[in-house]
Formats: sequence, structure tokens, C-alpha cells
Amino acid sequence: MSTAVKQISIQHFVTQLRKFPESAFLPTDQLHRFLHDAPVDPDSLAPYLTWDRQHYTRNLIDKTPLYELLAICWEVGQASSVHNHRDQNCWMAVPIGRLLVENFHVVHQDIAGGKCTITSAETVEMNASHPCAVDPLEPVHRVFNPREFNQRAVSLHVYSRPFDTCVVYSAEQGTCGEIELHYTTEYGKPT
Ligand code: SIN
Repeated sequence: MSTAVKQISIQHFVTQLRKFPESAFLPTDQLHRFLHDAPVDPDSLAPYLTWDRQHYTRNLIDKTPLYELLAICWEVGQASSVHNHRDQNCWMAVPIGRLLVENFHVVHQDIAGGKCTITSAETVEMNASHPCAVDPLEPVHRVFNPREFNQRAVSLHVYSRPFDTCVVYSAEQGTCGEIELHYTTEYGKPT
């Protein structure tokens, strides 16, 4: 027998998230459980949803010195680059649609020299009842919305602490390098 989990508004989600002490953001289990137990009502996300046919959009919902919370909007077929999170923890929930996260094993990396060897490890589905935490020991991954899912998707990302650069990797070319990250909107307004 399964127990229905009650959805909460994004405003309530933020109120709850702000109550967690700093220590809750170091291991991943407590926040992972919170994302599972507090699924967000998709209707409440409307002010934060923007769509771009060229690239997924990054929409800032809340930011403190401890974390940032983003809604990322994925058109069908869109994907992030394979990337790391600058040694910061990351949790992802998918209140709208479904997404895949493909994790990679870093065999070798020389970020200063721009060279790496990475191999695909496993791919898991995220959806309304399956949030995920990025493994701090194997943090390199990409997220994508495969064409066969045939629907838009929205993911919520909690990054702790906030970061505005990351390293992107090409498995095929064996290269890696740093990029800047930008928001498409902040608190519901274009940047
Ligand atoms: C991003 O924050 O731009 C990337 C999201 C992800 O694929 O983890």
C-alpha cells in the first residue's frame, strides 16, 4: 500500500528549506528525504517558468549564503553539458515531466591542461516521486530530457553552497574546461 504525499507550494518549500541548519547541507540524506516528502505543486512554479528553444533556462527562486534554489526548464531534447558542481552538494526534484541523469566516472582530469578521461557510469530517471542527490564522490553528470519522453520538464535544483562557475567535460574529445553560469530570471524577473 502506498501513502499519498501531499504537495506543497514553492513558497512553503522555501520556508521549510530555510529552516534547515548548515549541518543538514553537508551529508545528502536529510535534504534528499525533504525533497521526497515535500513535492512541489507545479502550479505554484508559474512565476519561475521560462522557455527557450535553444537552451534550457535557469531561474533563480531563492538564494542565501548557504544555498541557491533554481527551477530549470527543459524543452524536449534539451540537455546540460557533462559537468561538475565545484565540490558543492546538489539535490534535484522534478515536479513537472521526467528527466534522466547520466552519471560519469572521472578516470583522470587535468583541468588546468584541459584534458580528461571520463566514462559513463549509470543513468537514472528523476520524476515527481523520485528526486535525487548528486553523489559527492562521483559528482560529474549531465541531465537531459530525451525526445522519446515527448514532454517539457521542470527540475528544482538546490546547490549548497551557491556557485557561478563549473567545469564541463567532453567524453568524446577528452577535454574539459571552466564555464560561467548565468540565471535566465531572478525571483521571477528577467536578468
Ligand atoms: C545547471 O545548473 O545549469 C545544470 C543543471 C544540471 O544538469 O545539473
